[in-house]
Amino acid sequence: MTEPLCTTALVVNEPGGDFVFTDVHLEAPRADEVLVRIVATGLCHTDLTVPTMLPAEMMPTVMGHEGTGVVEQVGADVAGIEVGDHVVISFRSCRACGPCEEGHVGYCEQALLLNYMGMRADGSTTMTAAEGDRAGQTVFGNFFGQSSFARHALAYADNCVVVDKSLDLTRLAPFACGFQTGAGTVLNLLDPAPGDSLVVFGAGGVGLAAVAAARGRGVETVVVVDPLAARRAIAEEYGATAIDPTVDGAPAVEEQVRSLTGGGASYAIDTTALPAVVLQAQRSLRNRGMLVALGLGAPEYTIDAIDLLSTGKTVRSSVEGESDPLVTIPELIALREAGKFDVDHLVTTYPFERIADAIADTKSGLVVKPVLVWGE
Ligand SMILES: NC(=O)c1ccc[n+]([C@@H]2O[C@H](COP(=O)([O-])OP(=O)(O)OC[C@H]3O[C@@H](n4cnc5c(N)ncnc54)[C@H](O)[C@@H]3O)[C@@H](O)[C@H]2O)c1
Ligand SMILES: [Zn+2]
Ligand SMILES: [Zn+2]
Repeated sequence: MTEPLCTTALVVNEPGGDFVFTDVHLEAPRADEVLVRIVATGLCHTDLTVPTMLPAEMMPTVMGHEGTGVVEQVGADVAGIEVGDHVVISFRSCRACGPCEEGHVGYCEQALLLNYMGMRADGSTTMTAAEGDRAGQTVFGNFFGQSSFARHALAYADNCVVVDKSLDLTRLAPFACGFQTGAGTVLNLLDPAPGDSLVVFGAGGVGLAAVAAARGRGVETVVVVDPLAARRAIAEEYGATAIDPTVDGAPAVEEQVRSLTGGGASYAIDTTALPAVVLQAQRSLRNRGMLVALGLGAPEYTIDAIDLLSTGKTVRSSVEGESDPLVTIPELIALREAGKFDVDHLVTTYPFERIADAIADTKSGLVVKPVLVWGE
């Protein structure tokens, strides 16, 4: 098991660069690793944001953190995963530090090292370029312990969820991050009662998964704000009331939300990462309401301090909706089976070769959640 595998990955060569198909050598799995043949990988907004933020020294790199596939090899120390298992690959955690021991694996003290640094925890890298001018050059990987924009990925027991082989992996890929984050925020953190109200800013994969989870929980009053008509239409299919924030002459968005929720929403979720929208979300809350800011990308947000200090509101963030993937993903799959987490129609599959179309179509609102699939 020492020979590297020659496989194909979508490599980003410089900050903000395109995804380029490149043959790479991927190391054989070490004792704590599993080799997964990737079947389908969701595209999350974070896959587009991170390459613009990484320094040039951490390039070339391979993104992809909503991987699914079939286990091909299992390291000697890995328990509970077997060759042939179907897995959904989520984010990594050390499962030994204080937050991990308390079950808050999203706040693992090693989270940065295990998910974002492009290498294993011991500093070794897993890939080299196998072709062209860059042959032999290090390719950073291990993104979320997978880098699954590739035909094969190395993953770990702490981020692999074994799922029933009858399930369609193209529908489950977004459970690894986007759907888990939106739904987990509602179910694990906000835990709304049917009489509570929720406003979601941004109806992408994360926001609509939050809507689906809230509706599945029986929350009657759900408001969704998004400038894209196609996404507002999907929100309305869930029974939410949709607001277009771009209508000239309309009352301020926060006023519209307060009027639709009888004085202010119990809960607000931001998935836009736009400072002006986060402020609207805070102002949309009722007294003692809670805003969860999930969007990634803005360096700073403005908080209305007078409003905050006079109303007892909470403004907080959440990593992956307070999920432990090994617990939350099976729970969400069970809710999906029971008809209480209706998200399949949010997914549109694209061959990996059409990643540029997938990105363009999600930006334009034509599709909500692209999932990239390898052909035969
Ligand atoms: N906290 C976490 O753990 C976590 C996990 C996954 C994703 N994220 C982040 O969540 C965010 C959402 O991800 P996504 O994949 O759903 O992205 P997305 O781009 O599909 O969705 C964002 C939505 O915001 C809408 N929007 C733009 N301007 C708006 C405005 N003025 N008012 C209301 N809506 C507006 C867009 O039209 C779009 O529908 C990203 O920033 C991503 O990085 C965070
Ligand atoms: Zn930890
Ligand atoms: Zn993500």
